[in-house]
Amino acid sequence: MITIENLSKSFENGDDKIWAVKNVNLHVNEGEIFGIIGLSGAGKSTLIRCLNRLEEPTEGKITIDGVDITNLDKSGLRRVRKDIGMIFQHFNLLSQKTVYENIAFPLELEGMSKSEIKSRVNTLLDYVELVDKKDSYPSQLSGGQKQRVAIARALANNPKILLSDEGTSALDPKTTKSILDLLNRIRKEFNLTIVLITHQMEVVKDICDKVAIIEDGEIIESNKVDELFRNPKTKTANAFISGLDFNIEEESIKSREFKGTLIRLSYLGDSAKEPIVSKMVKNFNIHANILSGNINELMSTSVGYLILELLGDDNEIKNAIAYLKNQNVSVEVI
Ligand SMILES: Nc1ncnc2c1ncn2[C@@H]1O[C@H](COP(=O)(O)OP(=O)(O)O)[C@@H](O)[C@H]1O
Ligand SMILES: [Mg+2]
Repeated sequence: MITIENLSKSFENGDDKIWAVKNVNLHVNEGEIFGIIGLSGAGKSTLIRCLNRLEEPTEGKITIDGVDITNLDKSGLRRVRKDIGMIFQHFNLLSQKTVYENIAFPLELEGMSKSEIKSRVNTLLDYVELVDKKDSYPSQLSGGQKQRVAIARALANNPKILLSDEGTSALDPKTTKSILDLLNRIRKEFNLTIVLITHQMEVVKDICDKVAIIEDGEIIESNKVDELFRNPKTKTANAFISGLDFNIEEESIKSREFKGTLIRLSYLGDSAKEPIVSKMVKNFNIHANILSGNINELMSTSVGYLILELLGDDNEIKNAIAYLKNQNVSVEVI
């Protein structure tokens, strides 16, 4: 559906050149919700804005539905953009227009007749449950309601792709959940492909199928969400997953004096419910000291990590680690 190849984007800043996106390669399948997570300034907005050419790529190629969009003329670009809806952190509604008029706006630009617009807008209002707010102005709405208007507007032209640039970042957790539920419903009912950027792992955990982590303009890790949670390869992934600065935590543990071997277990699904650690202690002549741990519910499976200090004979510890590796947990000696 969407293929990004060797994409880079630079900005001139006086005499300086900033590479906001560096050699990004990603593939998003049809019907997928693909998350891109990164800290502020990582290049998330620049990357997503290249997908509808709100930002012109400096290098590389983006193919959508087989069409190379980096090489389109104005009319070609207009056609592609019709297939791509977008929502933003601060909603970007037209404050002088009512809810109805905001949603009608892209349809008017398409030259749709008044009666067709009316029927389409009413369907959309019903879909996002805002029929009673159709004559209100944005300033009279809550954040969640504003984002639902923006979603209805983004869907007006029946796009195939929806881009969300921090679409839930300005919302409280409960409203975030309701907007994510709406996006998930839309994805299923319209077979929409969604690319969503966020700095919150909660959002990724809730609705994304796959996720890429962007740092300093580069994708440093990309995987299915459950795989990433089970086996995060980078410190940044770990930091996002544990919801706290894992980096600092692990460093602080490592800076303390330990007699034993430190290991980190990452586990997923049923293995998180198995008494793996107590079985290990029973089977081998070792002691296990729990230093830190965290279990999360992710799309109805459990994921988590545990940092242990193993004490005992070297050989027993080696065998115990081999045992753990056999139990569908990933084990790293740290
Ligand atoms: N129009 C611009 N001109 C110059 N620098 C920019 C511009 N847009 C973004 N940048 C720089 O590119 C980097 C990535 O920004 P951005 O894509 O907005 O990150 P994010 O969305 O992850 O916070 C930052 O260093 C930012 O300052
Ligand atoms: Mg941004």
